[in-house]
Amino acid sequence: MLSSNGRNMEKPSQILVVEDDVMNSRLLTTILTRLGYIVETAFDGITGLEKAESFLPDLILLDLQLPRMDGYEVARRLKLADKTKIIPIVVVSSFAEVENRVKALEAGADDFLSKPIDQVELRARVQSLLKVKLFNDHMVNYQKILEAEVDKRTRQLSQAYEELKSALDKIKQTSLDTAFRLAQAVESRDGVTGTHIKSTGYYAAAIARVMGLPPQDVELGLYAIPMHDIGKIGIPDRILLKPGPLDPEEWKIMKLHTTIGGRILSNSDSQVIQMAEQIALTHHEKWDGSGYPDGLKGSQIPLWGRIAAIVDVFDALTNNRPYKKALPVDQSLDILKKGTGTHFDPEVSEAFFSIEKEILSIFRENQNKFTSSDG
Ligand SMILES: [Fe+2]
Repeated sequence: MLSSNGRNMEKPSQILVVEDDVMNSRLLTTILTRLGYIVETAFDGITGLEKAESFLPDLILLDLQLPRMDGYEVARRLKLADKTKIIPIVVVSSFAEVENRVKALEAGADDFLSKPIDQVELRARVQSLLKVKLFNDHMVNYQKILEAEVDKRTRQLSQAYEELKSALDKIKQTSLDTAFRLAQAVESRDGVTGTHIKSTGYYAAAIARVMGLPPQDVELGLYAIPMHDIGKIGIPDRILLKPGPLDPEEWKIMKLHTTIGGRILSNSDSQVIQMAEQIALTHHEKWDGSGYPDGLKGSQIPLWGRIAAIVDVFDALTNNRPYKKALPVDQSLDILKKGTGTHFDPEVSEAFFSIEKEILSIFRENQNKFTSSDG
């Protein structure tokens, strides 16, 4: 806290007197001590500089004519050093000429006192400069407190952000896991395992990646594709589990799994479920328009529906179903090639075959999991 005379109420201000004339030094010390300040003295320029650096006074009274280093040089050095540059300097000199005052100002002096010392003038100058110094100190401290507070808040905010992100990730993983388990529950009726459902997502994500889709879309597809047959929940066991081929009437019902799936997944705010809805509705559409439920043709079929089509057929061909045995991989790939341009989008098919090795490695990995988990 500052008093009206510029003194800190909690701690007396400290003043360094750099004066080689012992009488003058003593006089200044006596006056300033009486005024309640703590006074340190130095009798040459270099000692003055050293004491300023170690003592860090609130004000320096500096003579210009000093042994070892003159007052101009002392002032210059004090103003160059970070530690001492904010300490006000009052030049105490018998040089009254304007030229010397300008030179002292250029060196960094803040005010002047002429010798012989006038006590009233000394007190006024000292009090005035100490007020400025204490105010500056206060501002520097205030800035440090503000910076520390901003740092603290930034750290808290960043921690809160990380916690929120982790909570959102957990919610996301939980909802994806729930959706996946629902799809698995539906598909387990006809013997399709969770591993196979997941592998369709991996195939589709690999194709989407090679087709240059943005990473966030690839991730959505990875989770959405496994839900493509969720509408099978509405298909009776006698049709879904029939070991032989379906008759036309049964086929009509079987095909409804696309629209049933679309209905189950409709009106969701979730991007994954929205994409899954689109895929459930369109994964049996064919490039030449001969698919179902709407007979969409070419690019009328959403891209993810076209990707799901090839992935679904590859997965169905290479795995056992109630009505058929798995085909060898080579034969399955031949069927996909033959279906390119009629059943499958040529671009999607090209992407599929461009990463054939990766597709087959996903296939083998999942076959191993299938074998080890199901004995
Ligand atoms: Fe399907």
